[in-house]
Amino acid sequence: MSSSLEGIWTIFYVYIIGLVYGIREKFWRRQKLDDIWRPSKGKSQPVAIVTGGTSGIGLQTTKLLLEQGFRVIVVARETGDEVEGLRRLPVGNQLDLRLVDLTSLTAVRKLSEKLLAELDKVHVLVCNAGVMLHPFALTEDGYETHMAVHVLAHALLVDRLTPLLQRARRLDHLGRVVNVTSSTLFAGRLRLEGFGKNYVNGYSAYADSKLALAVYSRLLQKHCNDSIEVVCLHPGVVPGHLYRYTVFPFKQLICGLMGRIWLRTALEAAHDVVYLCLKSQISAGCYFENGSVVDIPNFDERTANGLFERVQSVLSST
Ligand SMILES: NC(=O)c1ccc[n+]([C@@H]2O[C@H](COP(=O)([O-])OP(=O)(O)OC[C@H]3O[C@@H](n4cnc5c(N)ncnc54)[C@H](OP(=O)(O)O)[C@@H]3O)[C@@H](O)[C@H]2O)c1
Repeated sequence: MSSSLEGIWTIFYVYIIGLVYGIREKFWRRQKLDDIWRPSKGKSQPVAIVTGGTSGIGLQTTKLLLEQGFRVIVVARETGDEVEGLRRLPVGNQLDLRLVDLTSLTAVRKLSEKLLAELDKVHVLVCNAGVMLHPFALTEDGYETHMAVHVLAHALLVDRLTPLLQRARRLDHLGRVVNVTSSTLFAGRLRLEGFGKNYVNGYSAYADSKLALAVYSRLLQKHCNDSIEVVCLHPGVVPGHLYRYTVFPFKQLICGLMGRIWLRTALEAAHDVVYLCLKSQISAGCYFENGSVVDIPNFDERTANGLFERVQSVLSST
């Protein structure tokens, strides 16, 4: 298929997925946060890191984790009124904000070094920060923005913080990475040639990066031999800031009154995220929707390993 035809097909496919999921999700149940991991008495306060925790699903995830007694380190580009409000609450000393632009791998590396020096354990790492339909732009490291933020920045953060996650898993039985991907992954392709630099259009770039994140999660689980747990999920179609580049009338449909009445709320989506963070037993390496495992496209070993090697080679050169 020519790349322009393929681009049009992906746009169509992404909207179909959005429509089908948007309708179906009305009937999804909110995950109950019982039968979940709880810190043992006498242990130090558990630590969670949430990227993009200043807005939408990430902000609600942060609030829920604070309610569950975690110290939450939010990684974001800029602060917001709600986050500042949370920092002023009595639990404020449990929320810690690190301003980092995830398009810069150098900034992610420096953040990881600081966290490694400050913390002795990380129990939960929620890789939630995301952009959608971002116009074509290469980051300072030369990678396409969706791939840079969703896959490379998060893979680097996880890679560098693995010793802290392993320690938490070994000592407290929880050291888990939750990658927030999207059902649009079903419209994505794994493009190994020119990895990280391709851009057919914003829809393909988004879907490709979310597919790569889900496949990478599965491979990472395999490579880390259960020393940590890695899962990923589609949190639901939720109106908000993420849709700022979506064209009218779709933006209106999703973020207007109808969307706000029909679609999931950021809090409902965050319940799914936190459920995966804390559920006692989990199918590690899997992709989840509505709290259940769903199969993602199966790639032959050579292709899947090709993705893993390419991500690893970016990490080792950073
Ligand atoms: N909403 C949905 O319908 C939906 C559906 C499926 C999957 N998801 C996924 O769920 C996640 C959260 O979505 P959301 O709806 O909550 O989006 P959102 O409200 O736009 O929040 C995304 C967060 O990521 C941050 N972020 C983006 N680029 C960043 C960068 N370069 N460095 C640091 N932080 C950055 C944003 O900060 P800024 O405010 O500075 O941009 C924001 O805090 C995303 O990964 C998204 O792909 C969402």
